[in-house]
Amino acid sequence: MAYPLILRIIHIGDGVIWAGVAIFVSFILSPAAARKGPDGPKAMGMLLTEAKYSLVLSIAGGLTVLSGILLWLHDTAYFKSIGWAQSPTGTVFTIGAILGFIALIVGGAIAGPAFNKMSAVGAEIAQAGGPPAPEKLALLGKLQDRLTNSSMIGGILLVLTVLAMATARYIR
Ligand code: HEM
Repeated sequence: MAYPLILRIIHIGDGVIWAGVAIFVSFILSPAAARKGPDGPKAMGMLLTEAKYSLVLSIAGGLTVLSGILLWLHDTAYFKSIGWAQSPTGTVFTIGAILGFIALIVGGAIAGPAFNKMSAVGAEIAQAGGPPAPEKLALLGKLQDRLTNSSMIGGILLVLTVLAMATARYIR
């Protein structure tokens, strides 16, 4: 009784932080920063770096997925009652889990490294002083595009994951 309860608290608590922050940054903050011209993304990048954005998302995303997998294993009685995973409810939870897992990979393998690299290049430019070299600006633009696209894909996957988690129990 206590085990699934504790897992659910960890899962839902971290899931809310992970999906909430990622969706807010991808769909609300980034477009708002882009509307403010070149200074917008720069200011957003500085604030997110200061707030340890990558670390927060890695920890919250990692804990959500880990506790989700443990809940899934618990629900299938560790593969003994695999029928649960094949029921309509179990299928929707499983589809949501797969989408969430892909979102974590997109965030960890593409968006996170692009964001970290952008922060590092931004810091190099600031330290060098003066106008940034054209190749640094080109690199920043490339990283910005990669971050925007991967964040958008991750955000869409997380919206679908949340929809699946929210509805699964009612799909019988
Ligand atoms: C890879 C990622 C994920 C996996 C593997 C996963 C897996 C699961 C599983 C197996 C359950 C059923 C738990 C039970 O029987 O009590 C569940 C429930 C739930 N999950 Fe996830 N989940 C993931 C991502 C998320 C995310 C991003 C959220 C966002 C908030 C979320 C929110 C929820 C909620 C609210 C429930 C409770 C649903 C209910 O009781 O009707 N999950 N999840």
